[in-house]
Amino acid sequence: MSRTILRGRVLSFLGEPQAIDDHGSYRYIEDGAVTIEGGIITAVGDFVPDATAEVIDHRPHLILPGFIDMHLHYVQSQMIASYAGSLLEWLNTYTFFEEQKFSQQGHAGAVASAFYDELIRNGTTTAVAYCSSHPHSVDAFFAEAQKRNMLMIGGKVMMDRNAPEALCDTAQSGYDDTKALIARWHGKGRGLYAISPRFAITSTPGQMEAAQALVAEHPEAYVQTHLSENAAEISRSMKLYPGSPDYTGIYEDYGLLGPKTLLGHCIHLNHRETAVLTETGSVAVFCPTSNLFLGSGLFDRERLAKHGVRIGIATDIGGGTSYSMLRTLDEGYKILQLRGQRLNPFASFYMATLGNARSLSLEGTIGAVAPGNAADLVVLNAAATPAMALRMATVTSLAEELFLLQTLGDDRSVAEVYVSGARAKSVLRGL
Ligand code: GUN
Ligand code: ZN
Repeated sequence: MSRTILRGRVLSFLGEPQAIDDHGSYRYIEDGAVTIEGGIITAVGDFVPDATAEVIDHRPHLILPGFIDMHLHYVQSQMIASYAGSLLEWLNTYTFFEEQKFSQQGHAGAVASAFYDELIRNGTTTAVAYCSSHPHSVDAFFAEAQKRNMLMIGGKVMMDRNAPEALCDTAQSGYDDTKALIARWHGKGRGLYAISPRFAITSTPGQMEAAQALVAEHPEAYVQTHLSENAAEISRSMKLYPGSPDYTGIYEDYGLLGPKTLLGHCIHLNHRETAVLTETGSVAVFCPTSNLFLGSGLFDRERLAKHGVRIGIATDIGGGTSYSMLRTLDEGYKILQLRGQRLNPFASFYMATLGNARSLSLEGTIGAVAPGNAADLVVLNAAATPAMALRMATVTSLAEELFLLQTLGDDRSVAEVYVSGARAKSVLRGL
């Protein structure tokens, strides 16, 4: 088997950085070598010349684990940047209209292909996606992942009310379609399935029961839904489920919470809800650009972390406004600033890599530049634009460089991406 060695400045996290000077939380190698065989990282250490391997020199750039995006909607790629006042108006005016287009043959494949190109351009090597309610949108999503050898997680949105009829399934068809899709795609290639009731407003109690049955029958699958994003959404949900104690209680009542459950937003949780997330090991997914764009509110990371809630971070395309996890970290930092909670740059990059891998229970598979992990990597250039180069000239530490990358960086800072050990970004450019 042929061996490839990537040479560069290697950074990978060992644990969650507790402070900007928590140097034990990461491994940094100034002149590092990442050895790749058969798509897997087989060694990481100081660079030593090796005439028997292909050496790709990325100096002076940084080599990190590929970014992981914990929540987005690939079917919203053509309605990102839609002008709306708040979540429910945005959903009813643009989103449900856009997602109906996925009933057309050929549409899903074309959008999926462009969407994956955008992920790669931005250094994201794994993402967790909502597809539309049409099963073939899921087929297109996983087929494209398989073609590119990417570890991707996704599922068909289940929604049987409060949306245009053309977009609605039924409790039974949502169950049947999801079951067939799990059989077709979970564990095929690197694909993993997420059972995806959209949110309480668009699922009847009958559909929640169907989702509950699916979760019980398929413990191997993830579960994803939206929780506590916006005040109007919360009050509407409580009117639809008056027997539940709070919004989290709705999902709890239907057995949808657990360590594989990913809950987008989680902005306005009360004390009981926070405790339930902790007890069940469910993951709260922070979606900064979306929360700002839709005016949804300020995620309270410190409070959730203090209570032991597992946390992830995501773009939430197309409520979110950028595919870039660098832009996402930047906006996340600003939200936490408004909350008086500064996030140090090591903690930011941890969240987008090992932190998200842990939140997906995929540590050891992705999220680290370490032997045994998939060779899903991003190569970052902190001097990619004139403004970045100007600032980089005064940077004297790794912490400053990371902070510069997250504050000024975007897809232009992504010099190269590797998926399963193969170059992916330069291939897009035809290089
Ligand atoms: N809640 C239910 N559906 C959606 C969606 O598509 N985007 C966001 N941001 N929130 C939702
Ligand atoms: Zn979402």
